[in-house]
Amino acid sequence: MPSSYSQHLELPWVEKYRPKKLDDIVGNEETVERLKLIALDGNMPHMILSGLPGIGKTTSIHCLAYELLGPELYHQATMELNASDDRGIDVVRNKIKQFAQTKIQLPAGRHKIIILDEADSMTPGAQQALRRTMEIYSNTTRFAFACNQSSKIIEPLQSRCAILRYNKLSDEQVLQRLLEITKLEDVKYNSEGLQALIFTAEGDMRQAINNLQSTVAGFGFVNDVNVFKIVDQPHPLIIRKILSYCCSKDGQGVDNALQLLDSLWDKGYSAIDIVTSTFKVAKTLPGINEQKRLDMIKEIGFAHMRILEGVSTYLQLCGLYSKLCEL
Ligand SMILES: Nc1ncnc2c1ncn2[C@@H]1O[C@H](COP(=O)(O)OP(=O)(O)OP(=O)(O)O)[C@@H](O)[C@H]1O
Ligand SMILES: [Mg+2]
Repeated sequence: MPSSYSQHLELPWVEKYRPKKLDDIVGNEETVERLKLIALDGNMPHMILSGLPGIGKTTSIHCLAYELLGPELYHQATMELNASDDRGIDVVRNKIKQFAQTKIQLPAGRHKIIILDEADSMTPGAQQALRRTMEIYSNTTRFAFACNQSSKIIEPLQSRCAILRYNKLSDEQVLQRLLEITKLEDVKYNSEGLQALIFTAEGDMRQAINNLQSTVAGFGFVNDVNVFKIVDQPHPLIIRKILSYCCSKDGQGVDNALQLLDSLWDKGYSAIDIVTSTFKVAKTLPGINEQKRLDMIKEIGFAHMRILEGVSTYLQLCGLYSKLCEL
């Protein structure tokens, strides 16, 4: 086994570089600022943190708990239940109640913290069972829910909580973090490689870091070609080429576009991969006016819909690119 391989089998980098303090969390400055104020003040409200995957919700709750309770009490006075734990009505009735009832000596003004991660996967029944519990024990215990969709948390719980929203991270924020990690891990990379990681992660920091580590483990060098192999997506440069053939007026456009499509299809990319990539590239394709971009995106949207409905054939994609040539 090559040494670089075993060397990269250690802790996943997403864990190794999980921020320990609120200060280390990248992005969502306003929300994190609110959490810092709560940490200073000490009086944590019940709260819901909602937003897309991989942008720091779970991390934020743990950092907050750590800052509120300190290194020793943090382990004793927090309880985390996530989607991999059984969180049916019985657990809410027994485990959560039991924890809420245990007496732990805390500094004045501090509370025990129950973290319900991925709370949108809790059944409405279990959520209902929490309503009264939250109120009864609110003088000693505070709840923090993390979820992707706050609409999946029942209204009565929402009304008991402060709701903090997390937005997607910007490309610059992801890049900055990737640069820090590449430096610490001594990763060999070029800038196209990092751009590819950012393009495929779409603001999801966890995915960007995971793909970085996989690319290093698989190839030892982070360039665009390796990254797109790891994430198993068609290279956007090829898609961009197809789209520019579709926009060319030399009469050869459709043939050239379909020839490139063939090469992607032969490599085994699925229709959904190709159409999703086409959308992402069309959003930022240079050299076309606004109207043209809107028309393209509309057609891509229709093709996407048909593919999701099950018609994910080669013909579907040929149809899409022919349509784009006609625009
Ligand atoms: N804002 C951030 N700053 C720094 N690192 C981050 C940030 N967001 C995510 N990460 C990295 O991604 C990993 C996962 O983050 P986290 O568990 O907080 O995601 P999440 O928002 O809870 O996602 P999910 O909705 O999937 O549970 C962290 O361990 C960390 O390495
Ligand atoms: Mg989480």
